[in-house]
Amino acid sequence: MTEPAAMAHYRQTRQRSLLACEPLCIEDYGLQAEAFTSPPKWHLAHTSWFFETFLLKPFLPDYRPSDERYEFLFNSYYNGVGAQFSRARRGLLSRPTVDEVLQYRTHVDRAMDVLLNAIDHPQRSTILARSRLGVEHEQQHQELFYTDLKYSLYANPLLPAYRDSAASSGDVTPGSALPPAPSWNGYDGGLVAVGRDVEGLNPGDFAFDNEGPAGQVFLAPFALARTLVTNAQFQDFVDDGGYRRPEFWLADGWAVVQEQQWRQPLYWLEREGLPMQFTLHGPRQREPWQPVCHLSGYEADAYASWAGARLPTEFEWEHAAREQWSGAPDGEVDKLHPAAAAGGEPLLQLYGDCWQWTGSAYRPYSGFHAAPGAVGEYNGKFMANQWVLRGSSCVTPCGHTRPSYRNFFYPQDRWQFSGVRLARDS
Ligand SMILES: [Fe+2]
Repeated sequence: MTEPAAMAHYRQTRQRSLLACEPLCIEDYGLQAEAFTSPPKWHLAHTSWFFETFLLKPFLPDYRPSDERYEFLFNSYYNGVGAQFSRARRGLLSRPTVDEVLQYRTHVDRAMDVLLNAIDHPQRSTILARSRLGVEHEQQHQELFYTDLKYSLYANPLLPAYRDSAASSGDVTPGSALPPAPSWNGYDGGLVAVGRDVEGLNPGDFAFDNEGPAGQVFLAPFALARTLVTNAQFQDFVDDGGYRRPEFWLADGWAVVQEQQWRQPLYWLEREGLPMQFTLHGPRQREPWQPVCHLSGYEADAYASWAGARLPTEFEWEHAAREQWSGAPDGEVDKLHPAAAAGGEPLLQLYGDCWQWTGSAYRPYSGFHAAPGAVGEYNGKFMANQWVLRGSSCVTPCGHTRPSYRNFFYPQDRWQFSGVRLARDS
């Protein structure tokens, strides 16, 4: 990426965060239904904090923070920076106001403009690399903005919509297409390449540190389902007593099912006998051929067990995705809900519908080293007790579409747009 392109990328990304907020009313900015979600206002502020903390304070000598107290308020988890305000209480931050947070963003943007124009800065290469990380970080928060907001809106019995479906096309597939028949695509396996050479990327390319180093793994022959599991297929699991039969569940998953009284995926509803689901467009008909979404890893695993299959490993998924990779798609996916399978590729719905749970633990690749300093807390310290998800979702920014991308959540988490693609030995 050229330097002007890097600056444009910064500005476009910052603007996109604001555009996502346009449908909100002022009361929405502080919503936080649970500790694991964050209010829209906090996302707007924290992403600015990232640029301020890791670029402006260390590299722009004359920089003056707009408010020193924000260092504490909007630090998410960086212990190397200092203490943080309680994550569970972010919704109580009625001050600073929305206007003050927007002023904070403008303050940071103006300073970033100065820093990115300092072409003779002795730390120029570090500044550009950190700026890119800040942009990618903000894009990750753009996805969290949607998933957190959806969860918080769902807590309101009025089930308000984030945006009317009439404002976009294709978000909710009309009931004309038939679901594709379940089918499989086979792979020989063997010794295959995985991961990215994160220290030797081409100019303009980006990968998070957790995607590397590149390496090789041995895979036994396997097959992946061509499509994601649909609502209709998952309904069969529910109707067969899937949530009441412990034989399909991991012990930890079964414990969560009992504790949380799970009986169906998050956001599934019934209205006057009709199958519905809550979406960012409000309650909508639950179409049978749409991919089932908002599953925990435990539910994905239990479904696979019931179906006589299993979850793919993250390397099986990556190997298959590499085989049909033809470059990142242009433009953003303008939809707020996953769509039915369509197309002729061997594997459909790899990207842009639901993240796909894998059975792989989120652990470092051989040779992984976190970056020195507080910024090294970005990924590495979370490599325990979480599972890897692959692909991307309908609300993932398009620049995050690639075979090596590793998303990760705890197996009980189900507020992300997470679904399941089955695997089996072959
Ligand atoms: Fe963050």
